[in-house]
Amino acid sequence: MQQTKTNITGKDVLTWKDFTTEEIEQLLEQANLLKKKLKNNESHEWLKGKSLGMIFQNASTRTRVSFEVGMTQLGGHALFLSGEDLQIGRGEPVEDTARAMSRYVDAIMIRANDHGMVQKLAEMSDVPVINALTDLYHPCQALADALTIQEQFGRLKGLNITYVGDGNNVAHSLMIIAAKLGMNMTMATPQDYEGDADVWDAAQKQAEQTGATIRHVVDPERAVSDAHIIYTDVWTSMGAEKEQQSRLKIFEKYQVNDQLMAKAQPGAIFMHCLPAHRGEEVTASVLEGKQSVVFDQAENRLHVQKAILTSVMEVPAT
Ligand code: CP
Ligand code: NVA
Repeated sequence: MQQTKTNITGKDVLTWKDFTTEEIEQLLEQANLLKKKLKNNESHEWLKGKSLGMIFQNASTRTRVSFEVGMTQLGGHALFLSGEDLQIGRGEPVEDTARAMSRYVDAIMIRANDHGMVQKLAEMSDVPVINALTDLYHPCQALADALTIQEQFGRLKGLNITYVGDGNNVAHSLMIIAAKLGMNMTMATPQDYEGDADVWDAAQKQAEQTGATIRHVVDPERAVSDAHIIYTDVWTSMGAEKEQQSRLKIFEKYQVNDQLMAKAQPGAIFMHCLPAHRGEEVTASVLEGKQSVVFDQAENRLHVQKAILTSVMEVPAT
């Protein structure tokens, strides 16, 4: 079998907190291998006959398309299940949804607002559950970001990432994966928007193991001075729409623009998980500029998710 030695069959992918550095590195290796196979037109139908149930309680472009196309390329099948159309939307308990779906599909992918609900789904499912974004985490995005950084710099350990803006789900997952992979991370956010205290705790504990540093800096200019990577995301995430107006004011000094990019290390890259709001968290000139790798990130969602799918599902022997 063409696979690398990652042995995470049956495991849920909810946060990366319960994965070792080695397991994450092996997923990146697997993603590289699958990316090469696709580019070389080599068949890699490792999930023939397998089905992935995809529950979406929120909108998506990249996640939906990349998971669905990924399953097709692997010879399997993906079912799009909108939260509103499932009985869960009419009050069926998540515990029952988990147990019923486990009788049909080989893995479940879910995008939901409530991370606690996704944890419950994972606990009650007999098949692996993959978190495709919750209010707290976006692990698939962080793995795609790590692959993109590795491609750009040829390494991960010792690089400095500065995340500018809102300490949200994307920032949380980036903190955890940075700490796991030995990258130093600076969170440049307004006071009280630095992110969840438990996530900070987990990231700090992990950083102690790998020698990475994770810090919070309020001043964005000071925060980017040693940055090899500047990362931002929307100021208002899905589910927080009511705060949109007040957030425009709170984050106005945190826009990633040409002046801020000029204060980073020479050769620094710009990253954003997308969708982006030009003129808010990032200017059009930075997003479209030479340092931007945002569409490489988007592409890499496909490759890392295929690595996850082929690692957590039982791959039939060839
Ligand atoms: N980055 C990301 O998850 O994009 P979508 O919301 O379009 O899936
Ligand atoms: N933080 C954003 C990410 C979207 C991919 C959100 O949750 O809306």
